[in-house]
Amino acid sequence: MSEKIISVDNLTKTFVSKAEELMVLRGTSFDIYKGDVICLLGISGSGKTTILNIIAGLDTPSSGRVLYGGANIGEWTSNRLYDFRLHEIGFIFQEFYLLEHLTALENVMVPMILTEKTENEAQERALELLAQVGLRRKAINHPEELSTGERQRVCIARAIANHPSILIADEPTGTLDSKTGDEIMNLLLGIAQKNQMTVIYTTHDPYVTKLAKRIFLMQNGLVVENGQSSFDNIEFDETSFKYKFKGDKT
Ligand SMILES: Nc1ncnc2c1ncn2[C@@H]1O[C@H](COP(=O)(O)OP(=O)(O)OP(=O)(O)O)[C@@H](O)[C@H]1O
Ligand SMILES: [Mg+2]
Repeated sequence: MSEKIISVDNLTKTFVSKAEELMVLRGTSFDIYKGDVICLLGISGSGKTTILNIIAGLDTPSSGRVLYGGANIGEWTSNRLYDFRLHEIGFIFQEFYLLEHLTALENVMVPMILTEKTENEAQERALELLAQVGLRRKAINHPEELSTGERQRVCIARAIANHPSILIADEPTGTLDSKTGDEIMNLLLGIAQKNQMTVIYTTHDPYVTKLAKRIFLMQNGLVVENGQSSFDNIEFDETSFKYKFKGDKT
């Protein structure tokens, strides 16, 4: 068995607002191993983004722990957490979060500028990364001048800029047509495999789980896996309004 890279241990998350208290994660646990390609499938609002944010150290759980290489990231100083996010995690956000006033090239340079790299080194690598994602010719365009699929490619290039060990992609195909979605998934997983990255991505579309090695389902605030990671083995349960593995009780 390969090395355990992340352990999610009894995680809960409750959002408290004026109107209500919403328990999105209800004590969920799972392990992620080096080289995993995990797809987390769940309906809108089921907590996919919440869990990714917590794993990446962008949000904190209400209780429970995320262990990275055995260390509890909740106990880290803000500097250690900053380094973790900058060097060890590559995050492709559901909402992209590209900086609109910067070009594609400059957006890809941002995480490298925050490291020891000089501006020239950052620029050179950003150009290589844009070439890798097939966007070299759009380097000087701003995000508003790019199609959604092209923006997604810039996000991929930016996410891998600092050679992260874990690539997190939140609904990478969410806003794309199925052909472009397939292209993006193949690109993303191809890059991850070449660079030996561990991948966690989310979707609300069962079809998009097709390329994953392990399929996780979001069910009532818990992450559920049944070891049969086949796309054909998933169905939508109209009664409980959630995805389930065929044969599993809801
Ligand atoms: N900061 C917040 N404050 C209050 N409620 C929140 C906050 N963030 C998320 N939620 C709520 O938590 C639930 C889970 O949200 P989350 O964004 O994790 O879902 P999701 O599975 O990623 O959905 P989608 O597929 O639409 O992206 C939702 O009901 C959402 O309204
Ligand atoms: Mg989401």
